[in-house]
Amino acid sequence: MKHLFLLLIAMTVAASAQQPVSKDKALDLAGNVHVIFEHKCNECHGSQLKKPEGKFGYVLDLKRMADKEDYVIRGKPQKSELFRLVNEGEMPPDDHPKTPPLTGEEKDVVRRWIQAGAPHELPAVLPKRTFTAPAPAKAKSPKDIRVTLDVRDQPAGQIFDDLAKQAHIEIAYTAPTNEPKLSITFKNGPLNEALDYLALCGNLTLRWEGEKAVIGLHKP
Ligand code: HEC
Repeated sequence: MKHLFLLLIAMTVAASAQQPVSKDKALDLAGNVHVIFEHKCNECHGSQLKKPEGKFGYVLDLKRMADKEDYVIRGKPQKSELFRLVNEGEMPPDDHPKTPPLTGEEKDVVRRWIQAGAPHELPAVLPKRTFTAPAPAKAKSPKDIRVTLDVRDQPAGQIFDDLAKQAHIEIAYTAPTNEPKLSITFKNGPLNEALDYLALCGNLTLRWEGEKAVIGLHKP
């Protein structure tokens, strides 16, 4: 009688804990995570606070956070409490409407940061970011579009470009060279008000042509 031996070769794919990334990518991730935490966590968990919430007061100290296994398991976002908290929208808490939850994109940055081993070295210049709330699918007018802006020292043209893209409206910016840099923090307001503020900060002219915003430099 002939025995058939079935040989099963189990391929064990060693699930690599960490996805190695280039030095530039690591700096980029750390910088972006730092900016997200600064905007969305630092007011409650910053080292400037005498009594930080949850007795956790070092959210911008990426090294200390990454070293704390209660929060971060390097290379394993799905096992990291920190990722769970932001991914499930537990942090920032929803009883605090001034600080909106992380956007999908921001959650993904946190995930990729942990996946890459939670690097803590920051780039020489932190990335500048504009956060905008997604536009409602069919907003009838710019007044119906609510946005969240958090911009530091960014060229006006770039901010308007981002905003136009995300809000699906047309913004004509007529001053491409030597544009002023703008800084604004604007949480959850209508788009036209945000544009008013931005124009005001940059000493720009703003007029509406129907639904189109036309923004230019003040003539000297
Ligand atoms: C408006 C204030 C507020 C903001 C903003 C906020 N948190 Fe919290 N956080 C709290 C409070 C209150 C607690 C403690 C109560 C609790 O554990 O639910 C807490 C607890 C925590 C804890 C657990 C601390 C521990 O060891 O028990 C972590 C981790 C945390 N927050 C992370 C974050 C992160 C990351 C962000 C930003 C994405 C954030 N939080 C934004 C208020 C805030």
